[in-house]
Amino acid sequence: MAKPNILVVDDDPSLAMTIVMSLEAEGYPVTETGSAEGAIQILAEGSFPIVISDIYMGEKTGLDVLHRAKALNPDGAVILMSGKGSIETVMEATRGGAFEYLAKPFSIDRLMQAVRGAEAALRESHARAPKEYEPESAMVGHSAPMVELYKFIAKVAPTDTTVLVRGETGCGKEMVAQLLHRGSLRAKARFVVVDCAALHQGSLLESELFGAVKGAYTGADRDRVGLFEAAAGGTVFLDEIGEIDPGFQLRLLRFLQEKEIRPVGSTVTRKVDVRVIAATNKDLEKLTREGTFREDLWYRMGAAAIELPPLRQRREDIPLLVERFISEFTASSGRPMHVSDSAMKLLVEYSWPGNVRQLRSFIERLVILASLNVIDAAAVRAGLPAESPLAAAPAAAPRAPESLSDAEDEHIKRVLAACNGNKTKASEILGIERKTLYRKLERMGL
Ligand SMILES: Nc1ncnc2c1ncn2[C@@H]1O[C@H](COP(=O)(O)OP(=O)(O)OP(=O)(O)O)[C@@H](O)[C@H]1O
Ligand SMILES: [Mg+2]
Repeated sequence: MAKPNILVVDDDPSLAMTIVMSLEAEGYPVTETGSAEGAIQILAEGSFPIVISDIYMGEKTGLDVLHRAKALNPDGAVILMSGKGSIETVMEATRGGAFEYLAKPFSIDRLMQAVRGAEAALRESHARAPKEYEPESAMVGHSAPMVELYKFIAKVAPTDTTVLVRGETGCGKEMVAQLLHRGSLRAKARFVVVDCAALHQGSLLESELFGAVKGAYTGADRDRVGLFEAAAGGTVFLDEIGEIDPGFQLRLLRFLQEKEIRPVGSTVTRKVDVRVIAATNKDLEKLTREGTFREDLWYRMGAAAIELPPLRQRREDIPLLVERFISEFTASSGRPMHVSDSAMKLLVEYSWPGNVRQLRSFIERLVILASLNVIDAAAVRAGLPAESPLAAAPAAAPRAPESLSDAEDEHIKRVLAACNGNKTKASEILGIERKTLYRKLERMGL
């Protein structure tokens, strides 16, 4: 991400110049103005993710700049400075969503620290931007395992306990982490997602989470605020925790115990107040037995662990989810859409290896493709990958690599067995003509 544009607003030319020069030395593109009116004008013309403004400058104040900047860009960061801070101005600044409030005089270092914090916050909100999180998007499902889950969330959310959310891909782990955050006293602070799989190389993850000081590694041309610090007061969600390497597991364990960070290359440790929620679709007990996941870390995180049931184990929730997704995907068009009974039956019977996410994107596709106001069985059947009658059977032991024709022979044999040797039925399931099946059986010597 390129350095964000910064707007500096101060009627004191010498202070403004010091700030501008320090920012430019760090590589930020800076625009400067001496009045709130000027700032409001400039904000209307360009994009300034970070605004640094004095408060008392004339008729209009830095608080007006704050309100305008936030109205134009709610995710932007406004840093206010004032020599006459009062409880009223601080309160108004806080209510208006100011990122930081600096009492004059302050050191330039202090300001730079605030700017870096703001930049880390922007990077974070930027990274999350494509995902949509509406607070009203509550979890859907009335099945017994879901009710157990709601009870767990209600009990554990208000605490500061580290939580481990387990479950297959797409079954709602991140959603649960969100709910745990929103149900806590930290709800107003940030929820920061860290994809450990994408950063699984220990050193990357370390500087991402703990921060790094300038010069700590090649390319570290300035201090970098870690996500644990950027999320102070809030929650950090460590997704795919099973992917982190053993060296980093130890650092993470220490962090969970002490809640202290030491940026890469620094000798100073600092306390931070964050709650950690982790998620994995891996079998951590197994990884622990195999020695790739530290047992002590597993104990530490497993204290409050919740296992999300796969969708196929709570099929009674499928109609509810289908209705929810239909209304979600028809909301913009306003076109009502109905699912026929036989189509719903197919949806309920399918095994959904990709769980709720797969169901959701499948419904999205059906809604887009539907030419009428009804989703019928034919549409569902056409869209779902075929499941052989045996697909639901327990997974066989991993097989050695085999050629396509071997796999085909195997599959034909299994389908034939499942149909008690009825070749007409088998050819239907296989989607081939009966005579083709005969030919293949002949080749196989059957
Ligand atoms: N119970 C539910 N009610 C409504 N929507 C749900 C529910 N569970 C999951 N979803 C939706 O399904 C999608 C996948 O959920 P989520 O991202 O939380 O899964 P995940 O377990 O984190 O998946 P992955 O392992 O792939 O990261 C999201 O769009 C989410 O909103
Ligand atoms: Mg996830």
